[in-house]
Amino acid sequence: MPDTLTIIDNRTGKRYEIPILYGTYPRHDAAIRGTDLRPIRASDEDFGLLSYDPAFLNTAACKSAITFIDGDRGILRYRGYPIEQLAEHSTYLETAYLLLHGELPTAAELEEWTREITHHTLIHESIKKFMDGFHYDAHPMGMLVSTVAALSTFYPEARNVNDPETRRRQIVRLIAKMPTIAAFAYRHRVGLPYAYPDNELSFTGNFLNMMFRMTEPKYRPDPVLERALDVLFILHADHEQNCSTNAMRNVGSSLADPYVCVAAAAAALYGPLHGGANEQVLRMLQEIGSKSRVPEYIARAKRGEFRLMGFGHRVYKNYDPRARILKEMAIRVLDITGRSPLLDLAMELERIALEDEYFVSRRLYPNVDFYSGIIYQAMGFPIEMFPVLFAIPRTAGWLAQWQEMLTDPEQRIARPRQIYVGPDARDYVPLDKRGGRAAATRGDDVGRVASVSDTTL
Ligand code: SDX
Repeated sequence: MPDTLTIIDNRTGKRYEIPILYGTYPRHDAAIRGTDLRPIRASDEDFGLLSYDPAFLNTAACKSAITFIDGDRGILRYRGYPIEQLAEHSTYLETAYLLLHGELPTAAELEEWTREITHHTLIHESIKKFMDGFHYDAHPMGMLVSTVAALSTFYPEARNVNDPETRRRQIVRLIAKMPTIAAFAYRHRVGLPYAYPDNELSFTGNFLNMMFRMTEPKYRPDPVLERALDVLFILHADHEQNCSTNAMRNVGSSLADPYVCVAAAAAALYGPLHGGANEQVLRMLQEIGSKSRVPEYIARAKRGEFRLMGFGHRVYKNYDPRARILKEMAIRVLDITGRSPLLDLAMELERIALEDEYFVSRRLYPNVDFYSGIIYQAMGFPIEMFPVLFAIPRTAGWLAQWQEMLTDPEQRIARPRQIYVGPDARDYVPLDKRGGRAAATRGDDVGRVASVSDTTL
């Protein structure tokens, strides 16, 4: 049988043969090219058939060789390597190299990569003045998004996005500086002096140093927590075409520089339905408070009163493999840091939800955000830092996806179509001819603006 789709347009009786691209699972998802629908017209004036797919539920926006997810089977692989094996054997910097270059580094490549990242962790001293301008209790994610965008002004060469060497320098800078900006945002918020990078420490050890060093001359990270954070960073490094990666690719398609692209991606990640969920999970567990109240909250979620944060996923219709690893890690980390009642509560919530028809029928399982926050809290990170802890490692994935988009000959500026549902053409109506509703509203508006007290700075 040919790999084609035969479409008969019943409006005209015309037949169309449309090629089905790529293969079938497990190598590739089968697809038709959207533009192959355009010749299907009801008349010569017709624009041609569009596919209408709000939130891209069933639309492939690109081809990618970076991350493979099988949502039904709970499979996640970076460049073909199963996430379970990378979590067990790799490091975040090695995984970042893999995502960006497509292959695991040799020892010499890894040493050079690590040296480069380590020697780009400092940020321009002017940025401290910029960060000092934030309100004392500014959310660290808001500070991160703004400061990363401001980096664009320090490296104007970054606009030269089609030059591989220029791209590589910005990629190194962004991966290296995200932890520094994140830690400085935290230190600003808690009123502590900035702790500078220590090049003798690992990527995660140095981040813990910049976060938690006090007056000791040399910060010594707990090796178990340092490794746990490294695994957390591996698990969060990429996840194919998620909301924030889509933002990265979208903004990058206009050839904007990578700093403002990463800021846009981090802004998308900040949302509570995406990377902001890990913060909301902790708040939800704290609000539930005890196992005895779990049934009440499950019932409220089933009534649609709120979302069980950390549950559900657009792609995974099975257990998120990252959540499985994080659940086991949470138990190990809390054995060191001290048992948290929130872990017991989370496990009870999971147990009840996974037995409940509402969640089973909608194939809602714990996702990456369900257990990560419990570990972060046990490690001493405040809740507000949780989305920042997601953004740091995801920077490698965003940059790998950005670079793949820029070097994909099929890609161009992203500009989707729409289905227009607004009013037909109509003539302008002079103000005095607009009738009661508009006049009354405008009167209110005029009244409202007149009272200066309404304007708050
Ligand atoms: C991440 O895309 C990625 O890869 C993201 C990510 C990554 O690594 O980049 O994996 C990271 O963002 C993980 C997701 C973190 N977000 C949350 O935990 C927030 C809670 N989850 C939901 O809001 C929701 O599950 C989403 C946003 C994750 C997915 O939303 P979808 O795919 O649009 O699903 P939906 O909203 O259409 O829900 C389908 C049904 C609905 O019920 P019905 O209308 O059919 O009756 O399931 C229900 C929803 O009401 N539902 C939930 C639920 N999630 C979905 N009901 C209760 N609690 C939930 N968490």
